[in-house]
Amino acid sequence: MDQANFSGVAEFMLLGLSGTSEFQLFYFLFFTVFYMAILLGNFLIVLTVISEPALHTPMYFLLSNLSFIDVCLSTFATPKMIADFLLEHKSISFDGCMAQIFFLHVFAGGEMVLLVAMAYDRYVAICKPLHYATIMSLQKCTGLVVASWVIGILHSLSQLTFTVNLPFCGPNEVDSFFCDLPLVIKLACVDTYVLEIMMLSDSGLMAMTSFILLLISYTVILVTVRRHSSAGIAKARATLTAHITVVTLFFGPCIFIYAWPFSNFSVDKILSVFYTVFTPLLNPIIYTLRNKEMKSAMQKLRGQFMNVRQLLQLS
Ligand SMILES: *[C@@H]1O[C@H](CO)[C@@H](O)[C@H](O)[C@H]1NC(C)=O
Repeated sequence: MDQANFSGVAEFMLLGLSGTSEFQLFYFLFFTVFYMAILLGNFLIVLTVISEPALHTPMYFLLSNLSFIDVCLSTFATPKMIADFLLEHKSISFDGCMAQIFFLHVFAGGEMVLLVAMAYDRYVAICKPLHYATIMSLQKCTGLVVASWVIGILHSLSQLTFTVNLPFCGPNEVDSFFCDLPLVIKLACVDTYVLEIMMLSDSGLMAMTSFILLLISYTVILVTVRRHSSAGIAKARATLTAHITVVTLFFGPCIFIYAWPFSNFSVDKILSVFYTVFTPLLNPIIYTLRNKEMKSAMQKLRGQFMNVRQLLQLS
């Protein structure tokens, strides 16, 4: 009875980037190209790692799992956002909105844990090279991948349980491209102060724990790399630079959005695009351009593809 009274909002309006229709068309084309590039780049990494036995090592398995999460992270909201650019009435149902929040936190949380797992893998490889094979078995690697999904789902459920039951009766305008928690909680018609604190501590705990673990492992690695200067170091350094770039690009926007979540910065809007569109695109670029094994495996894959094409043409 009360539920019906309270939940007066059946759908939310996504304000997104408002502008003239020429601009909307421009955004439509711009993000379509980006989204295609994300799918292409990340699926290429997954395909390369799976098809090349030489890359069946924990490091590359984790990398291709990261690519897979990147595809998920850019797919839960971006296609709808792209389609919305062509529509006048940019709305999303209540359930759709909750689903977007759920998936955003599953994938973003999972990605954080996976980044930590990748840092741990590099830590073992560089600081304990003699024990690498025993410490980072494939079993352990699979365990880390499963853990990242489980932690992502648990984190997301803990966020959602106190959001779905909130009463929404008033304004229903979400000033972004997709539903994110800080923006939606703000619309509830109760005092959300305690909830805001809870949300901040929940997401903050998740992000801070991962961030501190990453900081510790990279510091230890960097200290080790400085102390022993040998041939393998140049390669380790290139890998490290790639890792640290990705981590900065991923955590930068998160910290911005969740550290000042209730300000009206339109900066938040741009940043939310950043981690659902730009970061997933940058990962394949950063990890493949700097990586010889990856590049040669891709060339091999291309060679095989050409052979198949020739065979098809001949027959
Ligand atoms: C993720 O990692 C596991 C190994 O831990 C691997 O078997 C699986 O193929 C990887 N998944 C993807 C999509 O790369």
